[in-house]
Amino acid sequence: MKIISLANQKGGCGKSTIALNLAMNFASRGKRVILLDTDPQQSCVETLERRSEKPIKVIPIFSDIHLEVQSYQDTTDYVVIDTPPHDGATMASTVICSDLVIIPVQDSPLDIRSTKITVDLVKEAQEINKTLKVYFLLSRIQPKTILAKELAELLFTTYGIQILKSEIANRVAYKYSMIYGQSVQEFDKRDAAFEEIESLSSEVMEILQ
Ligand SMILES: Nc1ncnc2c1ncn2[C@@H]1O[C@H](COP(=O)(O)OP(=O)(O)OP(=O)(O)O)[C@@H](O)[C@H]1O
Ligand SMILES: [Mg+2]
Repeated sequence: MKIISLANQKGGCGKSTIALNLAMNFASRGKRVILLDTDPQQSCVETLERRSEKPIKVIPIFSDIHLEVQSYQDTTDYVVIDTPPHDGATMASTVICSDLVIIPVQDSPLDIRSTKITVDLVKEAQEINKTLKVYFLLSRIQPKTILAKELAELLFTTYGIQILKSEIANRVAYKYSMIYGQSVQEFDKRDAAFEEIESLSSEVMEILQ
């Protein structure tokens, strides 16, 4: 079992959208997946309530996350955890038991600066959880601009944390995905959003091999 958390104390950077789509992509590859929603906003739980047939199991959980995940050990390939903004305690309890933390960051200097709180928390967790891997994910970027590349470089030089090769652009498909509780691949397989999530899913699997 591998545990992947989406974390950034900065709100609105795409954590829930990516958590939901990544979990559904794993499921579409035949993997056994559980999505834990630790955010009182319950974005993932409520989004999936919009459809009768659930492609993945989504569970609300607000405390003792590091203990709860152990109960899935024998029956699950991937646990994906969505975390809330502005709640360091929940994020810390999630990160401490994760194999991989993905920090989505939007391509704005202000977002890069405000990611420091998250980076500090994750680096503290790495002192306890020595095998914890951490990557930034450029999220909601404007495709085909050099701004995204420049900001990726700034992210790396500022924090010394690697950036995933996969990127998530700003696309209506992601919005529809959260309106109807569908994965971007269900929405439209020809949409570039599907390729982005496929790429992210493959990259994550490779990192966690
Ligand atoms: N790649 C994207 N393209 C277009 N819209 C997006 C994208 N990612 C997220 N959004 C939209 O941006 C808003 C915030 O996204 P989301 O809820 O996934 O972020 P979040 O980091 O989970 O926010 P919070 O910190 O409040 O939990 C939503 O309206 C969502 O539909
Ligand atoms: Mg969210």
